[in-house]
Formats: sequence, structure tokens, C-alpha cells
Amino acid sequence: MKISIFGLGYVGAVSLACLSRDGHDVIGVDIDRTKLDLIAAGKTPIVEEGMVDLMAGVAASGRVTVTTDAAEAVHGSEMSLVCVGTPSAENGSQDQGAMLRLAAEMGRALAVKTAPHVIVFRSTLVPGTVEDVLRPIIEQASGKRDGQDFFLCFQPEFLREGSSIRDYDKPPFTVVGANHDHPVERLQALFGHLPCKFLRTSVRSAEMMKYCCNNFHALKITFANETARLCGALGVDPFEVMDLVCQDTQLNISRAYLKPGFAFGGSCLPKDLRATAYLAKTRDVAIPMMASILASNREHLDLALARIVKAGKRKIGFIGLSFKTGTDDLRESPLVTLAEQLIGKGYQIQVYDPEVHLASLLGANKNFIAQHLPHIGEMVRADIAEVIANAEVLVLGSNSPAVIAAVARECRAEQMLLDLVKLDEPGVMRAQVQGLCW
Ligand SMILES: NC(=O)c1ccc[n+]([C@@H]2O[C@H](COP(=O)([O-])OP(=O)(O)OC[C@H]3O[C@@H](n4cnc5c(N)ncnc54)[C@H](O)[C@@H]3O)[C@@H](O)[C@H]2O)c1
Repeated sequence: MKISIFGLGYVGAVSLACLSRDGHDVIGVDIDRTKLDLIAAGKTPIVEEGMVDLMAGVAASGRVTVTTDAAEAVHGSEMSLVCVGTPSAENGSQDQGAMLRLAAEMGRALAVKTAPHVIVFRSTLVPGTVEDVLRPIIEQASGKRDGQDFFLCFQPEFLREGSSIRDYDKPPFTVVGANHDHPVERLQALFGHLPCKFLRTSVRSAEMMKYCCNNFHALKITFANETARLCGALGVDPFEVMDLVCQDTQLNISRAYLKPGFAFGGSCLPKDLRATAYLAKTRDVAIPMMASILASNREHLDLALARIVKAGKRKIGFIGLSFKTGTDDLRESPLVTLAEQLIGKGYQIQVYDPEVHLASLLGANKNFIAQHLPHIGEMVRADIAEVIANAEVLVLGSNSPAVIAAVARECRAEQMLLDLVKLDEPGVMRAQVQGLCW
């Protein structure tokens, strides 16, 4: 394939070296003449394991040319990989200056190109950039249409500095956000041989998932380091602890707990987080990330409250009250807190939860509910149909299939249904379903 690569920094230079190694003709483009001269001389513009040998080899192959002229590169290739920098601006926002200037330049080049061209954005871009910002610039500058005369797509880059070439050859996966088949097919031809999944998605999801990956990595490192600081202060071996934590591949290193939903609660997580934060305080150890988890969880609960208040109705039916489906444990259930808040604001609440039988609640569970919802006896109904019949807004906090089927049967078109469990098929509900943040 004939490929142009814009931006020959850590990402672009490695792509240039690996693609030409694999037999493609590559045109490297940068505004930095020094980088171009180094590449033309078979030298690497970045310090990276394996790049010295690789660059010497590809320069000798004659498959690499370099230029500062964007138009020349667009005309001389069928696909452009855009890898220019997107650093932080002073206020923390993404500085897209280089990207915006380049988009206009590429658009002007496309204005006079007759063959279809694929532009693959590989730089990290805040969600919405390709479709809302770059596409209009390119369409205006070229006078042509995305999806007809040229094709835009977004393919996040996952390589890590220090092991870039190895990561290029064995990425965790290939993700392509695209609105058309053509660029996906071309990228499959280019990267389909790699030993990983090839996943197609929307452009915005591809943009966002790159941020999620980096944020998740940062979160993991910080979690390990906060844990280590606390372990250090307690005389516990942090390596032993984290090794044990990582050996649980059911709940820890797994998909568990990574599905968006409602706030967490229950008899363990909140109290153990509080105890951890307190322990750290008594040892003068700062663990700001872990200490702020409960505050973030509270934000999630407040979002549900705001949604209900915004609906402007007073009769609220809770379908599910315990902290998760399949238990009668009401301790620190976010649904109990939500009901408590609404009662404080004068809302009329009715509750149905197939697991919660007030007469059989015992011990700490009974005490918790007596303290937080002392009049719960007047709110709980044994018949789900009665709760639904009396409600203007339904708060769905149970994902029991039988409960969902009953809600689908009984709910009415004028009701709002606040979905806290992420219904698989919201369309089966006659009520107006609102996801919490989906
Ligand atoms: N560095 C990494 O490990 C890594 C990994 C994944 C994703 N990313 C993302 O990839 C992008 C590039 O990162 P990087 O570390 O390679 O950046 P970098 O700063 O090392 O390189 C960017 C290059 O773009 C060039 N450039 C700027 N404007 C240009 C233009 N108009 N035309 C041609 N070239 C131009 C610069 O001169 C520079 O050589 C960023 O969005 C980054 O977030 C980086």
C-alpha cells in the first residue's frame, strides 16, 4: 500500500518504520526538517528500542520518502495516518492547533485529488473531534464529502514508549471507529494480520475508549501506589498484597464491576472504604484517590435524584430497594438513600422489592432501615402492580427478569421509568424509559 504518515514523533516514526519494514511504501511528513533529515539518512528521530536497526534497514530498502509538503503526500498515497501531537493547553484542554491546521491543509490537497483517499486519525482526540471539528474543516477546504470522495476514520494507538515496536506487532487489539466500510476494509488489509482482535465501532466510541484506556491505566497505577503507601505505613509487604489481589481473576482482574450502572452500596464496600480512609489518616498517609471514591459514588446517587426532581412529579414507585438484586440486605443501599432524600423533599414513595420482607428483617439490616426509613412499613407493597398503578415515576433498581417482565406488563405510556439497571430491551416498556447516563 502507499501510505503517508503525518507527524513523525513517537507514534508516527514507529508506524513509518514498521509499515515500510512490512513492505509498504511510506511517505513521512513533518514540519520539523531535522526529523525528516534523520529519517532520510536512515537514522531514528526518537530514542526507542530497536529503532536504530529498523530505520537503517528501511532507509536502505528505498521504500521511505520524506517531505514537508502535505499536498505532495496526499497525492502520492491512498491512505494518510495522522499522528501529530495533541498536547495539553495551559488550561488543561487539548491543544488541537496542529491538528486543525493540518486538517485544512489536507482538505486543500483533497480538493484536487480525483482518486478516493482514506484519512486515519491516530492521534488521541477528545470525543467528537473527528465528526464535529475535523470533518467540517476538511469538507469545506476540499469542497468534497466524507463517505463519497474521501473517508475519515479514527484508529486509536495503543503503543507504549519503550516497547513501541513490540506493541506495534502485538497490540492489545485494533479498534477502528468508522462510518463507512471502505476505510475499515483498507485498515483490515493493513493491520488484519496482527495477532489480535479487529474491532469496528463508532468514531466517538473509538475516540472515548482511548481516553478510558489511559485513564484506567493511570487509575491502576495510582491504586497500586496508594495501596503501597498505606502498606508501607502498616508494615505490610505491598508486593505480596498486590500479587494476591491480581490472582483473583473472577472479581479483580476481570470484567466484574466494570459495567456502568447505579451507585454501589451494601454492607461492605462503603464501610471498608471509610475504614481504609480512616486508617490512612491515622498513619498520616495521603490516599486522595481512594478517599474520594465515596464522594464520587454520592455524585452518582445525586444524579438519579436530580433526574427524578426534574421530572416534576410527586408519586414515585421504587421497584427494588435492596443494594443489589437477589438480596434483602438494605444496609447502605443507594436506593434507600435515594428514597430517604425524596421523602425529605415531600415526595410520596411506594416500594416493591420481592426480596424484602419487613417482618423477617433482622439485626443490623433491620436497624439500618429503621433508622433511615422509619416509615417503610407504610411504603412497602406486596403487589408490584399496585406500586406501578400509583406511580408517576418508576425507579427501576432491580434487574430480576420476573420483576422486569412485570414492569413491562403494568407500566403506562405517561409514566417515566428511570432505568438504574440498564435494561437489555428498553423498547418493551410502554413507559418513557430514561437511562441514568446512557
Ligand atoms: N507517545 C505515545 O506513546 C503515544 C501512544 C498512543 C497515542 N499517542 C498519541 O499520538 C499522538 C502523537 O504522539 P507523539 O508522542 O508521537 O507526539 P510527538 O510530539 O512526539 O510528535 C508529533 C509530531 O507531529 C509533528 N507535527 C506537528 N504539526 C504537524 C503538521 N502540521 N504536519 C506534520 N507534522 C506535524 C511534530 O513536529 C512532531 O514531530 C498524540 O495525540 C498522542 O496523544 C501517543
